[in-house]
Amino acid sequence: MDNLFEQADQLLEDIKNTPIENQESLEQFRIRFLGSKGALKNLFSGMASLPSEQRKAFGQKANLIKQAAEERLQSLSELFSSENMQREPLPDHTAPGFPKTFGTRHPVSLTREQMTDIFTRIGFEVKEGPEIETDWYNFSSLNMPEDHPARDMQDTFYLSEDQSQLLRTHTSSVQIRVMEKHRPPIRAVFPGRVYRNETITARSLCTFHQLEGLYIDQEVSFADLKQTIYFFAQSMFGEKTEIRFRPSYFPFTEPSAEIDISCFVCGAKGCPVCKHSGWVEIGGCGMVDPAVMTNCGIDPEKYSGFAFGMGVERITMLKYQVSDIRLFLENDIRFLEQFRTA
Ligand code: PHE
Repeated sequence: MDNLFEQADQLLEDIKNTPIENQESLEQFRIRFLGSKGALKNLFSGMASLPSEQRKAFGQKANLIKQAAEERLQSLSELFSSENMQREPLPDHTAPGFPKTFGTRHPVSLTREQMTDIFTRIGFEVKEGPEIETDWYNFSSLNMPEDHPARDMQDTFYLSEDQSQLLRTHTSSVQIRVMEKHRPPIRAVFPGRVYRNETITARSLCTFHQLEGLYIDQEVSFADLKQTIYFFAQSMFGEKTEIRFRPSYFPFTEPSAEIDISCFVCGAKGCPVCKHSGWVEIGGCGMVDPAVMTNCGIDPEKYSGFAFGMGVERITMLKYQVSDIRLFLENDIRFLEQFRTA
């Protein structure tokens, strides 16, 4: 009698502990315990030999054991069902980690940010304007009427047959938008993308970035312009940097100048970056032409100001000694990941 109860306990242990790894061993489990000649069948048939007062308790026990076997069968057959088997294996939390690669800022973004930071430190605001412009903002308002020869200086991507809509060729269009909307004092920089229909080479792209600056107030002089550019050049390229202005021409500034900085690569001794001249060009500038101010409703008798424009790619190339401007557009990770900080 005891023997039969003990057998039942042993059977329950076996049901709980029999290892089952797959469908096949699950089927063997079913046959062994729940099959028509299985262990549970035997257990129930043994019941007949028990004294009647023990049969009820034994019957209950045997039913619980049967239930345990059925539950294990049920839950494992769900687990092994074809749908579940296709699931990803559970993650192994003890496996060694994969190194994570982090994205990097684009070198042009880093430079633009560094440039705007320098100007905001001396009171310039940062403003932006649209890349699709009208003829007025890109040319006419900047003292370049339709037949002005200066329009040939920039090959333009026009967006409409009548040439009224275009992709801006410079950020000077933002000068106009800001001067129209705000009254002096105005002190702001405008970073942004510009477009020119140029042949793509190691030195020129059909799209690049400029950073334009504008300062309009009473009695703003050329000396203020020079000092601002000097501060910028030293902050950007190091304290030893010298600047040089070369007379130039822009329709919207008078007088106008080209900005050179002393070559920081060779300390102005002469190297391939400065083409052995000791100087590299970083942009153009000048005093805002009175006609341009009048176009924006600002009285040139009362106010004066300066403007400057610099190429962000150009400055990035100088700073990191990148010799081909096309690298900035190719998005080759091997190039981009070298620029982690400014
Ligand atoms: N807009 C000029 C260019 O793209 C640069 C410039 C800006 C010159 C402001 C003078 C003043 O070449």
